[in-house]
Amino acid sequence: MPEKPAILKLDDKEFVLPVLVGSEGERAVDVRTLRDTTGHITFDDGYGNTGACESGVTFIDGEKGILRYRGYSIEELAEKSTFIETAYLLIYGQLPSAAQLAAFKERILDNAQVHEGLRIALSGFPSTAHPMAVLSATLNTLGCYYPELGTNERAHDLAQLDEAAAVLISKVRTLAALAHRAKEGQPPVYPKPGLNYCGNFLHLMFSQPNADSEIHPEVAKALDLILLLHADHEQNCSTSTVRMVASGGANLFASVSAGVCALWGPLHGGANQAVIEMLEEIHRSGDDGSRFIAAAKDKSSGVRLMGFGHRVYKNYDPRAKIIKAQCDKVLKVLGRKDPLLDIAMRLEDAALNDPYFKQRNLYPNVDFYSGIILKAIGIPSEMFTVIFAIGRMPGWISHWKEIAEAPKQKIHRPRQVYVGETLRSYVPIEKRG
Ligand code: CMC
Repeated sequence: MPEKPAILKLDDKEFVLPVLVGSEGERAVDVRTLRDTTGHITFDDGYGNTGACESGVTFIDGEKGILRYRGYSIEELAEKSTFIETAYLLIYGQLPSAAQLAAFKERILDNAQVHEGLRIALSGFPSTAHPMAVLSATLNTLGCYYPELGTNERAHDLAQLDEAAAVLISKVRTLAALAHRAKEGQPPVYPKPGLNYCGNFLHLMFSQPNADSEIHPEVAKALDLILLLHADHEQNCSTSTVRMVASGGANLFASVSAGVCALWGPLHGGANQAVIEMLEEIHRSGDDGSRFIAAAKDKSSGVRLMGFGHRVYKNYDPRAKIIKAQCDKVLKVLGRKDPLLDIAMRLEDAALNDPYFKQRNLYPNVDFYSGIILKAIGIPSEMFTVIFAIGRMPGWISHWKEIAEAPKQKIHRPRQVYVGETLRSYVPIEKRG
C-alpha cells in the first residue's frame, strides 16, 4: 500500500507532499516540488535532517548503534571479512566469488607502483607539507597519468570503473607511504609482490632500500581492520563532497581528491590525529583527565573531547567497540604498555558517567581508540587521517558509481536563505568614511 502523503499548511492553503520509505522503513517527506508550488524552500543548516539522495551502499541507525555495508553488519564483516573483500562488496554490491576476489586482488597488486613522474612530484613538496594536502594533490595528479580513465564523460568513465577503482585503491596506499617518506627525507622503496595490501603499506612505510622491515601478521591484520571499519559511512562530510563533485560530472580522480580535503578537518577524519594530540597533552600536563573533561564542558574554553560525539550515533559507535577490543590485542602482541591508553580509558569512563555527556548522548566514536593502535604500529600522528582516507577510498568509489549510474542525476545545488545587505548604491572612494 502506498505511504500516506504529508500535508503542509501554509497561509491557510494545504499542500500535499509525497512520503518516501526506505528499505529499512526510514521515512522522508519529499519536498522537491515545494518551491514551485509554494515559493518556500526548506531550511536545515548543516543538513542535520536532510536526505540528500537515495543510496543503497550503507545503512546506519544511530539511535540503535547499527552500521551495515550492503546489508552486512559491521560486526560480522569485521570478524569474517578483509578490507579488500569489503571494498569489492561496497563497490559491486555483492560479496565476490573466489574467482572474482582473486581477479580483484590481482588487479590491485598490478597497480601497486606509481609512475616515476609522481615520485618526482612528491619530492617537490616542502617538508612542512601535511600528508593530507600531498595526498589530495597527488590523487588529482594521478588522474593525469590515466586520461582514459577520467574523461568527465559519465558513460565512458563508468565503463572504465573497474580499472580506475583498482588504480585508486592500490595507489592511494603507495602514494600515502611515499608522501611520508618524502617528508622524512627517506629514499623510496618499491612495493613487493608477495605481500598483501596492508603488508605492502607497512613495507612501503618502514622498510629501507637494503633492509626490509619485519611485518608482524597481527599488526597487518589490525591495520586491515581499521581500514575495513572506515570503508564507508553513508552521507558524511567527505562522502557528500565526493557526491557533490561527481554530480557536476567530474571524474573519479577529481571527486576523491576533493573527498580527501573534506576529510582533513578535525571535526571529521582529522579527529584521529586530534585525539592522540589531546591524550599526549593531558599526559604531558600531568592531568588525570578531569581538568580536560571540565574544560570540554565549558563552552567558553573552545575545547572539545576529541573522539567523542557523532552527528548520527546517539549511542556507542559500533566501530569504536570493535576497535577498542583490537587496541588491547595489538598492544599485547607488540608488548607495549601505552600510558595514553590508560588516559583514554579514564576519560571514557568519566565522560560516560558525566551528566553533560549523558544528556547530549556523547559516546566514543571510531577515532577515540584507532590512534592508539596506529601509534603503537609506529605510524606518525600526521598520517592518521591519511590512513582514514585509504580506508574510505572504496566507499567514495561506491558513491561516485551510484551517482554516475543514476538515470536522472541532477547537479547538486542547494538553496540558501539570504541574510546579507539589500540593494544599495555604489559610493565613490572619496566619499567613503
Ligand atoms: N566534547 C564536548 N561537547 C561536545 C562534543 C565533544 N566532543 N561534541 C558535541 N558536544 C556538545 C556541543 O557543544 C553541543 O552542546 P550544546 O547543545 O550545549 O550546545 C552538543 O554536544 C551537540 O553538539 P553539536 O556540535 O551540535 O553536534 P554535531 O552533530 O554538530 O557534531 C561532532 C558532531 C562529531 C562534530 C561533534 O560531536 C564533535 O565535534 N566531536 C569531536 C570531534 C570528533 O571526534 N569528530 C569525529 C567524528 S567520527 C569520524 C567521522 O565519521 O567523521
